[in-house]
Amino acid sequence: MKGIILAGGLGTRLHPSTISVSKQLLPVYDKPLIYYPLSNLLSAGIKEILIISTSDNILLFRKLFGNGESLGINLSFEAQDHPNGIAEAFLIGEKFINGDDVALILGDNIFYGNQIKNHLNEQKNKKCHGAKIFAYKVPDPQRYGVVEFDANFSVVSIEEKPLSPKSNFAVTGLYVYDGMVCDLAKSLSPSKRGELEITDLNNLYLENKQLEVLLLDAGTAWLDAGTPDSLLEAAHFVQTIQNRQLIQFGCLEEIAFQQGFISVESFKEIVDDAPKNKYGDYLRNYLKEISN
Ligand code: DAU
Repeated sequence: MKGIILAGGLGTRLHPSTISVSKQLLPVYDKPLIYYPLSNLLSAGIKEILIISTSDNILLFRKLFGNGESLGINLSFEAQDHPNGIAEAFLIGEKFINGDDVALILGDNIFYGNQIKNHLNEQKNKKCHGAKIFAYKVPDPQRYGVVEFDANFSVVSIEEKPLSPKSNFAVTGLYVYDGMVCDLAKSLSPSKRGELEITDLNNLYLENKQLEVLLLDAGTAWLDAGTPDSLLEAAHFVQTIQNRQLIQFGCLEEIAFQQGFISVESFKEIVDDAPKNKYGDYLRNYLKEISN
């Protein structure tokens, strides 16, 4: 399975902070926002990843990650200079996807917990049929794509930002599709707001009876960091988790090692260059642990 991180958009809800830099490069506590969705893909064993962003910001992402070699992954980049909709990722990414299964994650979504990781890991070695999306119970569903269920809890529809939501289950920014996704995305027309809507794509799969909605339980935390308040809340969340559990959430180097993407020798090289701060200390301690 391949992975796409959609990290474009204008970030207008975060202006002026995002006038000169992509939202996904802003820090969430001690690391750039994009580390978290990227860590979700790496934890699922996905190592062929496309980052879609604006041309200006691609230069910055390249500066941050290069081509992913130091993490033992293969990162490529494609530009989306106008936010024409989330589903446009499958037109831009068609060559990259090349008929394979693909997981798309939004660059401002943060998932914490093992449910997604376990699910994607299970999925990794099987061929995907249709689409899988993940829903999460929220107090403010009108801000999201919302799933409607019938009495048997079968999915009836998905509505994008409905004024009167039919449930409290929001569609999160992680989507898994089979190789048909690019053809289906090509059949979409722009919505009233001028975007190729991910919700319309999911509804096409639903019409074909090929949409599975997995409900994320309370053991998963899902945050998006698209507004000043949610960005700050996400930072507090990461700070609390890291300080109380003595872990690093979204530590790409650690995950790359755990997934077998890099050897101990490569990890040692990373540690040699690690910064003299808490993040670097964490990597140094982790190296000691794995060397014992
Ligand atoms: O966060 C989950 C929600 O994401 C879903 O429940 C909705 O169904 C889905 O439409 C989307 O809603 P948002 O209002 O959060 O989408 P937004 O326009 O904020 O875009 C989400 C991220 O995707 C953001 O980081 C910018 C990026 N993006 C968005 C668009 C429309 C792009 O890179 N390119 C785009 O064309």
